Amino acid sequence: MGRKKTRGRFIALEGADGTGKSTQALLLADFLKHFGIEAKITREPNNPAILKLIETCTSKEGACLLFAADRASHSQKIEALLEEGFWVISDRFTDSSLAYQAGGWEMKLGEVEKVNAFATPLKPDLTLIFSCTPSRAAKRMRRRGNESSFDQNFPLQRKVGNEYRLLARRGGGRKIMDASAEARKVGARVREEVKRKWKLQTR
Ligand SMILES: Nc1ncnc2c1ncn2[C@@H]1O[C@H](COP(=O)(O)OP(=O)(O)OP(=O)(O)O)[C@@H](O)[C@H]1O
Ligand SMILES: [Mg+2]
Repeated sequence: MGRKKTRGRFIALEGADGTGKSTQALLLADFLKHFGIEAKITREPNNPAILKLIETCTSKEGACLLFAADRASHSQKIEALLEEGFWVISDRFTDSSLAYQAGGWEMKLGEVEKVNAFATPLKPDLTLIFSCTPSRAAKRMRRRGNESSFDQNFPLQRKVGNEYRLLARRGGGRKIMDASAEARKVGARVREEVKRKWKLQTR
C-alpha cells in the first residue's frame, strides 16, 4: 500500500482589481518549486458558465449566491488537489465575496458570510491581501490593456480595499501585503511570508 500523501497547503491571494494577484500567483508557484513543492494555481470565478450568469445577473443577492455557488464546486476541486498533496494557490476565494459584496456593494457582512459558510467549510491556511491605491492599480491595468469600467470604479475599489483591511484585523491567517512596489519586490515579501509560516528549507 502506498504511503499516504501529506496534505497540501492552501494559500489565497486577495485584493482589489489590478493589485497584482495573478502576477504574484505565478511568482509564488515558481518559488515553491525550490522546496520540492508542486503548487497548482486556480482562480475565481472558476466556472465560466456561472461567470456568464453573474455578468447578466441584475440582483446583488442573485450575484452573491452565484459567486458562492461557483465557490462550492471550486472548493471541491481545491480539496481534491490538497488531498493529493499539491499546494493550492487560489487567485481569489471567500474573502473576495466579503470584500466586494459586503464592502463594495454594501450588503450585510453577516449574510454574505452565512451564504459562503453554507457553500463551503474550506478555509485558506494563509490569505495574502494585496493592497495599493486604486489609481496605481488602474494605471497597471491600463498598461495591461483590458481594463473595464468596473475596474475604473474608484469609489468601489476603495470600499473593497477598506473591507479587506477590516477583514485582516480579524486575523484568521490573513496578512495585508503592501503591493505598491514593483512586482519583484512584492514577490520577495510574499516569499518571506510563506517561508516563515512554513519554515521552508531548500532541498
Ligand atoms: N507590483 C507591480 N508593479 C507594477 N506592475 C505590476 C505589479 N504587479 C502586477 N503588475 C502588472 O499590473 C497588471 C495587473 O496585475 P495583475 O493582473 O497581476 O493584477 P490582478 O490583481 O490579478 O488583477 P485582476 O483583479 O484584474 O485580476 C499586469 O499587467 C501586471 O503585469
Ligand atoms: Mg488577476
